[in-house]
Amino acid sequence: MTEPVNANGSGCGTDGCSRKRPRPDEGLLNEMEQYAAQHYVPIIKRDTAELLIVLGRLVKPVRILEVGTAIGYSAILLSGILAPGGRIDTIERDEDMVSIAREYIRRAGLTDTIAVIAGDASEVLACLDKTYDMIFLDAAKGQYPVFLPECLRLLRSGGLLISDNVLFMGMVDSGEPVGRKKRTIVNNMRTYLETLRSDPLLDTSILPVGDGVALSYKRMETEMNR
Ligand SMILES: C[S@@+](CC[C@H](N)C(=O)[O-])C[C@H]1O[C@@H](n2cnc3c(N)ncnc32)[C@H](O)[C@@H]1O
Repeated sequence: MTEPVNANGSGCGTDGCSRKRPRPDEGLLNEMEQYAAQHYVPIIKRDTAELLIVLGRLVKPVRILEVGTAIGYSAILLSGILAPGGRIDTIERDEDMVSIAREYIRRAGLTDTIAVIAGDASEVLACLDKTYDMIFLDAAKGQYPVFLPECLRLLRSGGLLISDNVLFMGMVDSGEPVGRKKRTIVNNMRTYLETLRSDPLLDTSILPVGDGVALSYKRMETEMNR
């Protein structure tokens, strides 16, 4: 990796006073996209990045939880839509990814804003006790059903759960038969989406953006019967 670049572009730090939003087509994020492509690291697609930015503008999160850091691309992107003083916790189980992500976050000048939590989310989530305004689920698809109860515990009422890669190359919502190798993952994801849709706590919409994104709004007490 080369010399430090401040992804904020302002030296303003974490108070959001004049922070410039990191843009995928510029600077460090652009370099990270190239790194991801060269090293086959799956990061969010550009259209998913655009969706996250718009959602972030609407939610104005103070606290974001991400499950699945990889090299820190989406975490750095999301830092640009945090409310002033906001923070991101992001969980990653692969030690190499943790090191690379921390280095990029350092170069972005965001070490006070983004905390990479090393470990398996199936264990880490249970240890977290603060609530989050927005949770971005972007880890092993087969584990989403395992993560869901903890994510819902950690999501504040009125908050947004974003689950990425839920359509798995279009196979999840197609009526076409699925090959044996992919059948388990597709069936698991269908079950996951059904769980989201049938949960009375949630309003869920599934968008064909990137590899499929499920948006789940956690209702507030006053919205439960409406
Ligand atoms: C699709 S990548 C994340 C990409 C990242 N959100 C981005 O767009 O920049 C998924 C990451 O989740 C991690 N992961 C998968 N299962 C996990 C688990 N159970 N706990 C923690 N991390 C996990 C993988 O090691 C991988 O780095």
